[in-house]
Amino acid sequence: MKHSALSAFYKDKTAVITGAGSGIGEALAKVFADLGCKLALCDIDQSALTRVVNDIKHTHPSLLIFHDVLDVSNKQQWSQFLETTAATCEHIDIMINNAGIEGSCRPVWASDDATLERVMDVNFYGMVYGSKAALPYLIKRPWAALVNVSSIFGMIAPPNTADYCASKFAIRGYTESLRAELALLHPHLQVHLVHPGGIDTNITRIPESQKFKARYLKTNPLDIALYIAKCLKQNKARIVFGNQATLAHIASRLLPLSWLSKLSGREIKSLEMESDYEKTHDGFNINKL
Ligand SMILES: NC(=O)c1ccc[n+]([C@@H]2O[C@H](COP(=O)([O-])OP(=O)(O)OC[C@H]3O[C@@H](n4cnc5c(N)ncnc54)[C@H](O)[C@@H]3O)[C@@H](O)[C@H]2O)c1
Repeated sequence: MKHSALSAFYKDKTAVITGAGSGIGEALAKVFADLGCKLALCDIDQSALTRVVNDIKHTHPSLLIFHDVLDVSNKQQWSQFLETTAATCEHIDIMINNAGIEGSCRPVWASDDATLERVMDVNFYGMVYGSKAALPYLIKRPWAALVNVSSIFGMIAPPNTADYCASKFAIRGYTESLRAELALLHPHLQVHLVHPGGIDTNITRIPESQKFKARYLKTNPLDIALYIAKCLKQNKARIVFGNQATLAHIASRLLPLSWLSKLSGREIKSLEMESDYEKTHDGFNINKL
């Protein structure tokens, strides 16, 4: 890949990327490696992370890559990970809170609280811990960027996504407020919110989400990764990219909620999940509560 202006900008900066073992995180690692960044990569899945690191080492043998297994939802692991990153890579310029998991892909009355709690722990609290732990390193730099990955489901909330949307709207609220705060104190620290549309990754692991994946997850992760790199250089605060992303963004701004509910409801109907939408569903049974 040849992007000489971008490479000149990113050369020797350090990018920390969570969830780098697959999908958007893997693509970000590869794009920032191509652009000459030192990398600090983590994932909860050791073998996935090792595969990505080996791939990058193969194409960039002299690039500095620190990597470690990290569960982003484990607050205690964060300080050690970033301390070692800073010691190994000298400084931290870009922090990308990307790691995330899907929700139950079922309506509220058919989903369990454990899934909601895990989704909030990984998607939301993982981003909180990563952001707070990285701030002391980022503010020291003449230029730095904190990048939090939300979703188009941080702008619209169709059926079967309540748990996932709760985490992604929360990332949005937290990041927008943090952005306004830092603008008062450390304006050189850029804060970015990413709203991917349907990106062709491995996020959909359960049977309930396979039809959704086939219909919507179309965009190559490398395309959004390169777009994010360009947007950071341009200091574009809100980054909207991927299949259906612009449509969802415009709809969320222009349509009344009653329309959004109706339109997104229609889309979900054709995913053939009728059994969860029976009025006799157990989730409405008072004795089952
Ligand atoms: N794929 C899409 O269409 C899409 C759309 C909108 C937003 N997103 C968001 O993009 C981000 C990346 O997802 P993806 O689509 O690349 O999925 P993916 O499943 O392909 O990759 C996610 C990576 O995160 C890792 N991970 C999961 N839990 C973790 C934890 N607790 N700690 C550390 N790593 C963990 C996984 O092992 C995996 O390697 C997520 O935040 C996701 O919500 C994706």
